[in-house]
Amino acid sequence: MAPLKFAVLAGDYIGPEVMAEALRVLEHAASQEGLTLEHTAADVGGAGIDKHGKALPDATVALCERSDAILFGSVGGPKWEKLPPKDQPERAALLPLRKHFTLFANIRPGLLYRELADASPIKSDRIPDGIDIVCIRELTGGLYFGKPKETTTLPDGDIQAVDTMVYRKSEIERITATAIAAARSRRRKLCSVDKANVLETSVLWRKTVIDYVARHAPELELTHMYVDNAAMQLVRNPNQFDVFVTENMFGDILSDEMAVICGSLGMLSSASLGAGKNSRGLPFGLYEPAGGTAPDIAGKGLANPCAQVLSSALMLRYSFGLEKTAARIEAAVKRAVTGGVRTADIAFGGKSVGTKAMADAIIAQLG
Ligand code: IPM
Ligand code: MG
Repeated sequence: MAPLKFAVLAGDYIGPEVMAEALRVLEHAASQEGLTLEHTAADVGGAGIDKHGKALPDATVALCERSDAILFGSVGGPKWEKLPPKDQPERAALLPLRKHFTLFANIRPGLLYRELADASPIKSDRIPDGIDIVCIRELTGGLYFGKPKETTTLPDGDIQAVDTMVYRKSEIERITATAIAAARSRRRKLCSVDKANVLETSVLWRKTVIDYVARHAPELELTHMYVDNAAMQLVRNPNQFDVFVTENMFGDILSDEMAVICGSLGMLSSASLGAGKNSRGLPFGLYEPAGGTAPDIAGKGLANPCAQVLSSALMLRYSFGLEKTAARIEAAVKRAVTGGVRTADIAFGGKSVGTKAMADAIIAQLG
């Protein structure tokens, strides 16, 4: 197999620390199977601003264009918080990357091992088997990108800001297709989350999902839920969901809620898949942990690398078609953690290890 060619955008604070360990795990898993990696690093986020005056330097975009996938760390933090909002790392790097590569499908597994149930704010007896659900969030439409998007001074001197929520049927259909694929690989239950009692976009959303699933996946159990109710149901009984699919902003909010009920952000991975195919004919994608840059623990070697490792497993699965290797890495993380090797965020005050030792334990589990 040709070398696995991907861009490494580690970003800021703990980004580079967990990225280095994820690459070590990847190298190990790949060499065991005779695969070679060809990864190239580039600056992004605050690192881009500091070195090139831009959160998303042109050279970084060019590198991504030459790659089959992007392994992303995390961007932003106190150092750049004084910049105007539109120039800050999150808005000036992540959103343009999503748009540039039409990364419309954001897949966020909400996974909590039963052994870590105590890490969840939900009472353990409500989640005896942990949590295992998936959020599919539309990522390039809705309020984030709709036009007009502006602040104006009105004739009477008042100031008005407007964001526009807009969806096309075709955008809803393609994210529904992603959700169908996810549900088929799991328990065949799909819940579409909207606000069809109030929003025009949600009325179109619901109608489109119903029609599309009827035509393409009638075997699925399809349900619909208003977003306010979904927020409540997620904390009452998360496992009533299998896969849920929703528009950009609702997905932003619900996926953070999902992250907190799954215990530590340090365990959650994500994949953002594009409309375009890479040189292998598979989806081009960006793979990133859900946790952010954690400036408070940066530079101390304490960050949990698991989310970055699990994100790289998703990259192998979706952008390189290496299901077996991906599953092996996921199993190794699970065995390492449930076997008792834990970083501070999941140690419940017990014995904890640092970033490197956590990665060593995963590598040991890979054999
Ligand atoms: C996320 C983040 C981003 C978003 C921010 C950093 C722009 O919250 O990936 O969920 O809102 O999409
Ligand atoms: Mg978010």
